[in-house]
Amino acid sequence: MTFSHLASRLDNIAPFHVMELAKMAAALEQQGRHIIHMGIGEPDFTAAPLVIEAAARAMADGKMQYTSATGLPALRAAISAHYRQAFGLDIAPERIIVTAGASAALLLACAALVEKGSEVLMPDPSYPCNRHFVAAFDGQAKMIASGPDQRFQLSDETVRQHWSENTRGVLLASPSNPTGTSILHSELAKIIATVRGKGGFAIVDEIYQGLTYDGEPFSALSLADDIIVINSFSKYFNMTGWRLGWMVVPESLAAPIEKLAQNLFICPSAIAQHAALACFEPDSLALYEARKSEFKRRRDYLVPALVELGFKVPVMPDGAFYVYADCSALLKHCVKDGGDADTLVKDVLNQVGVSMVSGLDFGPYTAQHYIRLSYATSMENLQEAVRRLGLFLGKNDV
Ligand SMILES: Cc1ncc(COP(=O)(O)O)c(C=O)c1O
Repeated sequence: MTFSHLASRLDNIAPFHVMELAKMAAALEQQGRHIIHMGIGEPDFTAAPLVIEAAARAMADGKMQYTSATGLPALRAAISAHYRQAFGLDIAPERIIVTAGASAALLLACAALVEKGSEVLMPDPSYPCNRHFVAAFDGQAKMIASGPDQRFQLSDETVRQHWSENTRGVLLASPSNPTGTSILHSELAKIIATVRGKGGFAIVDEIYQGLTYDGEPFSALSLADDIIVINSFSKYFNMTGWRLGWMVVPESLAAPIEKLAQNLFICPSAIAQHAALACFEPDSLALYEARKSEFKRRRDYLVPALVELGFKVPVMPDGAFYVYADCSALLKHCVKDGGDADTLVKDVLNQVGVSMVSGLDFGPYTAQHYIRLSYATSMENLQEAVRRLGLFLGKNDV
């Protein structure tokens, strides 16, 4: 059988460039090279012990059947209680829909709101899959160049400037991947008001919300309840492979999203849901907070170390576990003349075994001059990575 008639929407979906680099790193490891992985976007920690015990208990008790499409009532109630405890917010469990990761939540949101020709505004740089979720429903992501002066986020001004008759909404992530920078509350409030005024939708991805290091924790839900907020057990709760997340939707969207979830997924993983209930136990929360402090410690080491090496970090990342660093001044160290961030990343990997990601996946605006480094690896690895980068850059005193 030949599949020569692929749906044309596939032309608008690019492969993940990061994976190419991961393949190169794996090939070097097979040759016996030691590689420090700073390209990956997942915590080096695993789920809390109580969560693992709860998963084992759920399996032993045979709690493995389908659940309701919107998730276990107990888990929706636990997430609602978490919003009350952590942010003083009253979010009705009926507005919370448990999903197979933030990915499924983004997919459901786009399935409900995007149609052929819909334009969705998002910053460039941003998480690559976002533009592809929009493309999957025949919409078009309009990526707006957003530099360090805007904390790499949309501003109310850029939203107004770029809103066209085809624009249906905005998709933001705060803190952002790849930059680790959050949008200012005051700016977000203005954007939401503008979008509301135009009759559009606002999706705010708060997947890294638990991992914010400066200032008080904050959710966009404190600004408005007519927005869609996305979250996940992947990052703060260290459960990437368990495939569990959630979305908070306005009351009027709960039934349409439930209908889509029933058809597209039946339900999120039952075992993961039973296990995730234990995330909210005091012992688990204490562990997650300790790990968050460890991430902050790593950030506070890595950012100055990179600046010392000649990278520019124009905005201090206040969350997630990424540093988005301008490497323009270091491109002269590429093996061949005329290299860009992508060449630099490959040269560093080949020569000194540190795996990082260039801006290429995150949109064209910063692609050639920025690299993303993940500090979701041990402090020892970070110190060794800095030493190796120093060697690559010919700084013998490192
Ligand atoms: C900004 C952002 N949104 C969503 C996701 C998807 O996460 P999940 O594992 O919850 O599907 C990621 C994963 O890296 C991300 O960085």
